[in-house]
Amino acid sequence: MTVGPAAILAQGIVKRFGKIVALNGLNLEVQGGELFGLLGPNGAGKTTTINILSGLVRPDQGKIVVAGIDCTRRPRSAQHLIGIVPDENNLYPELTGLANLCFCAALYGIPKQERIERAERLLADFGLKEAAHRRFGEYSKGMKRKLTIAAGIIHQPPILFLDEPTTGIDVQSARHIRQLIAELHRAGITILLTTHYIEEAQRLCDRIGFIVAGRIVRTDTFLCGLFFPVQRLPLWLRFLSFALPPTYGADMLHQATGQTRLLPLSFDLSILILFGLGLFLLSLHTINRRWII
Ligand SMILES: Nc1ncnc2c1ncn2[C@@H]1O[C@H](COP(=O)(O)OP(=O)(O)OP(=O)(O)O)[C@@H](O)[C@H]1O
Ligand SMILES: [Mg+2]
Repeated sequence: MTVGPAAILAQGIVKRFGKIVALNGLNLEVQGGELFGLLGPNGAGKTTTINILSGLVRPDQGKIVVAGIDCTRRPRSAQHLIGIVPDENNLYPELTGLANLCFCAALYGIPKQERIERAERLLADFGLKEAAHRRFGEYSKGMKRKLTIAAGIIHQPPILFLDEPTTGIDVQSARHIRQLIAELHRAGITILLTTHYIEEAQRLCDRIGFIVAGRIVRTDTFLCGLFFPVQRLPLWLRFLSFALPPTYGADMLHQATGQTRLLPLSFDLSILILFGLGLFLLSLHTINRRWII
């Protein structure tokens, strides 16, 4: 199931904890089917944003619309449409993986037979089939993270909140989790993900919001992040000036035809190379996002 445009809308969200201003007029809009990354330092307000958008915490000010439902007065009114994966694993350590998933499914009123079917399918999809009957408390960190994500989507929500899904786990497990997230994205689920890792955000997300001191200060698409940061422009120019001495093209032209041009041929070549390089990086990035996540 997918939802239409602006699956998540937050306007002017303010949240204070005593004297601490956790969110200071946060604005956010996530389109249906989009994977939006919230990137920011410790204490920036990422978890508070997720808790507010998912109805776990009430904002002091601001408007929230989730899946077309105005949650401003009734924060839990869109609960059945949301899946939440908190930054800390919250499943029962004494229950097995299968039992944990079935229990979560029961909370959403899913009939018994379907609970088991869904749980078994998710365990297989997440590479946890062998561990289905082991207790959650005995799982490794990566396994715990995968089961917590599976629990977050057992009711097949169209919107998913993921709070730092790969923090603190090994490279291989993190990679597998990123692949699972990319598959959920491809299946059409709208995802809001928080992370500290810029590479993770660039590889996975359609757009990235940079959150600082409770506000989103800048939003980029992955293309902007890759090609157009202003600070990288001098680097590109320097690279070009090294790669192509300015007289090279003109000399060649002069030798071949006896003509001189106002603009050296190297200018044309530079543009061509820049364009080719752009295409190369774009295809590399696309392959990266699809296969090497
Ligand atoms: N329940 C709470 N009581 C008091 N202060 C809180 C509470 N929850 C969050 N805060 C404060 O709000 C601010 C934002 O916290 P939040 O957990 O949202 O940041 P974060 O971006 O998720 O950080 P991290 O990257 O460390 O997870 C912090 O200053 C934090 O101390
Ligand atoms: Mg957090």
